[in-house]
Amino acid sequence: MFENAKWIIHPENKLYEPVRFIKKLDFTKKIKRVILNITALGVYYAEIDGVRVGDFILAPGFTSRKRVQYQSYDITELIKKDSTLSVSVAEGWYKGKINFGTDEGGPEKKKSLLAEIDVLYTDGTRERTATDGSWLCCRDFIRFAELYDGEIVDANYEDNPVNAIVYENHPAVSIVKQQGVYVKEQEILRPLRIFTAKNGDTLVDFGQNMTGYFEISVNARKGDKIALSVCEELDKHGNFYNDNYRDAKAHFEYICRDGLNIYKPRLAFWGFRYMKIEEFPCDITKNNIKAIVLHSDIKRTGYLESSSPLLNQLFSNIIWGQKGNFLDVPTDCPQRDERQGWTGDATVFSRTASYNFDVERFFIKWLTDLKLDQGKKGNIPNIIPQTICWDWSTDENSGAVWGDASTIIPYQMYLTYGNVDFLKNQFASMKKYVDYIGTYTKEKYLWAGCGQFGDWLGLDAPAGSYRGSSNEDFIASVFYAHSALLVVKAGKILGRRVDKYENLHKNILAKIRSTFKEYKTQTECALALYFNIAEDKKSVAKLLADMIRENGNKLKTGFVGTPYLLHALSQNGYAEVAYDLLLQEEFPSWLYSVKQGATTIWEHWDGKNEKGEFWSRNMNSFNHYAYGSVADWVYIEACGIHTVEDKPGFEEVLISPIPTDKLDSLSAKIETRHGTVSSKWYHFDGKVRYEITTPVPATIINEGMEYKVNKGVYIF
Ligand code: BGC
Repeated sequence: MFENAKWIIHPENKLYEPVRFIKKLDFTKKIKRVILNITALGVYYAEIDGVRVGDFILAPGFTSRKRVQYQSYDITELIKKDSTLSVSVAEGWYKGKINFGTDEGGPEKKKSLLAEIDVLYTDGTRERTATDGSWLCCRDFIRFAELYDGEIVDANYEDNPVNAIVYENHPAVSIVKQQGVYVKEQEILRPLRIFTAKNGDTLVDFGQNMTGYFEISVNARKGDKIALSVCEELDKHGNFYNDNYRDAKAHFEYICRDGLNIYKPRLAFWGFRYMKIEEFPCDITKNNIKAIVLHSDIKRTGYLESSSPLLNQLFSNIIWGQKGNFLDVPTDCPQRDERQGWTGDATVFSRTASYNFDVERFFIKWLTDLKLDQGKKGNIPNIIPQTICWDWSTDENSGAVWGDASTIIPYQMYLTYGNVDFLKNQFASMKKYVDYIGTYTKEKYLWAGCGQFGDWLGLDAPAGSYRGSSNEDFIASVFYAHSALLVVKAGKILGRRVDKYENLHKNILAKIRSTFKEYKTQTECALALYFNIAEDKKSVAKLLADMIRENGNKLKTGFVGTPYLLHALSQNGYAEVAYDLLLQEEFPSWLYSVKQGATTIWEHWDGKNEKGEFWSRNMNSFNHYAYGSVADWVYIEACGIHTVEDKPGFEEVLISPIPTDKLDSLSAKIETRHGTVSSKWYHFDGKVRYEITTPVPATIINEGMEYKVNKGVYIF
C-alpha cells in the first residue's frame, strides 16, 4: 500500500492556514470499485464533489508521533463522471498547539497528505493513482483552523490552485492501518434556551456540557458575519465566562455567502455548554443553530439508576464526562489548552470507563501508543500520545499512578473483557516500567525521592499547592508494589517466569510496611487498605472512618485517593460511611457539584463555590472525568457486581450487593461479553428485595449467605 504515493504539501505552507489538495478523478474505463486510502500529518476532511467521504471526524486520529493511521474508504458510490476529490488538511493532532505550549513541532514539520486511489475496473484490471506533484492544492476557504482555537471560515474565498510539492524531508513515521475506534457525530442537542445575559450578551444554552461542534444554518447576504465563542459555565452574574479555557481561543467565525449558509466545522472541536453569539446576520433563533456531540464510537454498556434524582444526575454526569473525554484518546478535558491523554486520569477512570462503555478497542490503540512512546529506560511519559515539546522519553521523571497506566489499564481491560492479548501485547512494557522504577528511585524497594504528582488536587493540599498533603513517597511506593504485583499476575497468566517480580513485590511490601508506619491522611489510609499494605486493617479502617466522621462526613482526597476511598471503607466494614460520602450534598462532594447545576464531572471539588465564584482560571475544568471513577464503587460494591479474577471477562461473576437505608433503591446493569448482568435492590414492605440476573455461573452472597447458581434470574 502507498507504494507510489508521496507525502505532499503546499509550496507555501503556513501555520494554521488549512490547505486543500485537489485531484480530478479521470477513470478510463467502467469502474467496479474505487477505494481511497488516505492519511495526513494533521487532521483531514475529504470530500468528493462536495460530499463528505466517510464519517471519521478529525481523521486520521491522534496517535504517537511515531506512527499515523490510514483509513480506507469505499468511494465507488460517490464517483460520477469528472468527479473531484478534495481534501482539506490542518495542523490538528500532529503539529498543532495540542503539542502543548509554543513549540508546534518546529518549522520542518508541515501538514501533509498521503493518499492513493485504487480502482478496479469491470474488466478486472486495476489502476492506482497516488499523491505526487501532479496533485493541485490551494489555500482552503477555512482560512484558519486549530484544535484549541477553532475555525475561521470565509465561504466566498477562492484561491488559485497550484501544483503541490513532494515533501522531501518528511519526518519518519510509520503508516499503519486504522487501529482505533472512529470518532463520529453521536447526538444532536437543540438549544434549550436563547437569552440575553445581564451584560447584554446573547447566549445559547444547550443544557448539557459536551464535546463537539455545532451546525449553523442561516439565510444571509454575502459578507454577513457570524462570530461566536463557547463556555462551560456562566459566572455568578449569569454572564459568559471562559477564562478557564486559558489560552484556547475556542472561537468560530464565518463569513457568509449570498443565500442559505449551512455549515459545521471540519477541522476543530470545542468543549462547551453555552455559546456567546457575538455576530449573527439576524436575531438568532433555535432554528439557526444546533450542537453536535462527538466522541469515539464506543457502545454504551453500563447503566446505574437509583431512587435519588441527585444521584441519577451524578450518574449522567459521569457518562457525559466519559463521552466528552473519549475522543480518540482518553483526554483530561475537552475545552482548555490541554485535551491531552494524561495517563493518571485514564488510570483511575479506566475501570469505570470499561463498565460504562465498550472501550476494548479504544484502549488497544491507546496502549499501543503508550508502548511506542515509552522511554528507552522504561519510563512512561505522563501524556500519551507524548507531546513534542516536553520530551518525556528522555526525561527520567514519570509520575506514579500516571505511569502505572502501563500496568493497571491492560490488567483492567483483561478483567473486563477477558482479552488476554492486552497482557500479551503489554507485558514487556509493564515489566520495563517496573524495572525503570527500580533504577530511578533513590531508595531501594521504595519509589522515593523523585518528583511526583502526589494526591493531585487533594483538598488537604498545603496553601498554593495542587498536591494533597499525603506522603508522595508512600503513594508512589504503593503503586510500585501494585505494578510489580500486576506483572506477576500477568506473567502467570501468560506462563512466564516471574520469580524476580514476586520477590520484588514482597520486598517492596516489607519496605513500605517498615518505613511508613502511620497513615495520616484519608488518602494514605484508603491506599493502605485497598492495596493491602495495612497489616491491621481493622484499626486503619476505623482510623479512616473516624477521620471522615470528624470531618463532617466529608472527603479530602484528590485524584489518587478518591477512586479507592469508598472501596476501602466498604471492604472493611464501613459501607455506611461510604454511602454518607456518596450522598453528601454539601461541599466537598459529588452531589455538591450536582446541586450547583453540573452536567459533567468537575476537575476540582471546589471548581465553583456556593456564591457561584470560581476557584481559579488556571486549572478549572468542568469536564474532567477522574472523580467519575466513583461509578465503579456503585457497580462493584453498592450493587455488588464483581469480576472473578480467574474467570475474566465476566465468564463467571460474584454478586454481593450492599444495600443501605439511605436510598430506596439502586440498580446496576453491565452488558458483558457473556450477556447482561444486573443487580438491583430496593426496600419493600420493611425488607430489602434483591433482583439479580446473571448470564453466567455466579456466586451470590446475600445477607451473609452464599449461593452458587447457574445463569438465570434470582430474587431474594
Ligand atoms: C491535567 C490533569 C493531569 C495533571 C497532571 C493537569 O493539567 O488537566 O488532569 O493529570 O495536569 O499534573
